[in-house]
Amino acid sequence: MSKFYITTPLYYVNDEPHIGHAYTTILADVLARYHRSFGDDVYFLTGTDEHGQKVQQASEKRNVDPKSHVDEFVIRFKNIWEKLHISNDDFIRTTEKRHTDKVKEVLNALWEKDEIYLAEYEGLYSVSEERFITEKEAEEGNFREIKKIKEKNYFFKMSKYQSKLIEHIQNNPDFILPKKRANEVLGFLKQPLNDLCISRPKSRLEWGVEIPFDAEYVTYVWFDALLNYITAIGYSADDEKFNKWWPASYHLIGKDILTTHSVYWITMLMAMEIELPKSIFAHGWWLMEDEKMSKSLGNVIRPLELADKYGVGPLRYFLMRDMVLGQDASYSFSSFMSRYNSDLANDFGNLVNRVTILIRKNFDAKVPIPGVLGNAEEDILKLTNETSEKVKSAILELKIHDAIELIMNVFRSLNKYLELRAPWKQIKESKEDGSPSATCLFTSVNVLFKTALLLHPIMPSKIDSVLSMLGQKCPKNIFDVDLIKENTPLGDGKSPFPRIEV
Ligand code: MSP
Repeated sequence: MSKFYITTPLYYVNDEPHIGHAYTTILADVLARYHRSFGDDVYFLTGTDEHGQKVQQASEKRNVDPKSHVDEFVIRFKNIWEKLHISNDDFIRTTEKRHTDKVKEVLNALWEKDEIYLAEYEGLYSVSEERFITEKEAEEGNFREIKKIKEKNYFFKMSKYQSKLIEHIQNNPDFILPKKRANEVLGFLKQPLNDLCISRPKSRLEWGVEIPFDAEYVTYVWFDALLNYITAIGYSADDEKFNKWWPASYHLIGKDILTTHSVYWITMLMAMEIELPKSIFAHGWWLMEDEKMSKSLGNVIRPLELADKYGVGPLRYFLMRDMVLGQDASYSFSSFMSRYNSDLANDFGNLVNRVTILIRKNFDAKVPIPGVLGNAEEDILKLTNETSEKVKSAILELKIHDAIELIMNVFRSLNKYLELRAPWKQIKESKEDGSPSATCLFTSVNVLFKTALLLHPIMPSKIDSVLSMLGQKCPKNIFDVDLIKENTPLGDGKSPFPRIEV
């Protein structure tokens, strides 16, 4: 059994959960579910980033202590993941003791190994980003609230790992994906790498993990947060759980946090002498298409509200289908709606209704007894089996949109097959056991069953409804199932994808 350890970024607890957070978490969930189905042993981690200046400021504004503030705000993330059918195995908060204790242990160990030093530094500091920036970065104009600050701080000797990092990226083509992101990091590493300031004096910021060897300071929020990927699984060199799961199979991140993950995090691991994660995957951004929204048009909809209105499954489907992993994608209600209507309501949903209604009406709601399968039946069953294999490969290559297209292609082919055979006409001739209509519907219900299963990780609850219409339940391995036997009773219900009419 292989193991599969997948992580999402830790979301800033202050933020209102939005489509960007939902996308990464759903992506991780879909991959975790597919891998469980492959028979892998899966650990799926998400959580919240709860220290730092923004949290301190927000809690001051509300006149509550920061801990009560984060305890209150974290619930929004926990609730939304439950609502979106996220099957995470763990949820880590950076304010938990299991995390803060380990952060201190790591800091002590690095201090003792001489990987950290105290120095006075004068430089430009971006208050909004909570970090020192270079002159060049300041000139590029992407940072707000820039101040000149001169203070004593602790620094991690990041620069010393520059060539080792470059070498690792060059020697491991899957380490940073997609490839263009690896090139970006290598481009960044052409400049000399600075050491990383990893402390903040308490005079400026109190809400953080105290530096264990100097009570005047707290830890820089990124240095604290990145460690979650090992603290959640109980990091210590001889810990059984840690050794079972580490190294991570994938750190899923957005492209904006590529440097922190591929430079800060990786050099931290190098200094700790811990094995490196297998892969960091940076996805693109969802952009809101400039769509006119107006109350009179009735299209004032925020992405997460789609889940309430049209179901969690369709939202998950849309996000997985419309973003080519690694590239940016644009969201608009009309793109959601046309994707929903054409793929889910028409190609898939109508098919489910058509096949089940014909069987209910004409075959006593039981899977018909087929005769000898003809070429058209053999062909569509072959396509179905081949698609299973191809979907598996696409998932292993993180090409989820391709996997979905392969699946939809089977539904479209099945629709064509039905038009060709026209069982509604065949039935008028005969609906005896072994008749052409029985053969056609036996084939159709099975193609539908095997192919719908492949979508289970993407829309678990909607596919459960479809399976229950077919009298079936989702097996553990969705890639290798037997045909539904003749005479098996179907269930009730109709397609869970009614057309959206605007
Ligand atoms: N707290 C840090 C991560 C620490 S990881 C140890 C952080 N949090 S965040 O809440 O601001 O962002 C989390 C993720 O959301 C990032 O991966 C970011 O790329 C993603 N997104 C934010 N807006 C997005 C879109 N519009 N589209 C897709 N993802 C985007 O950064």
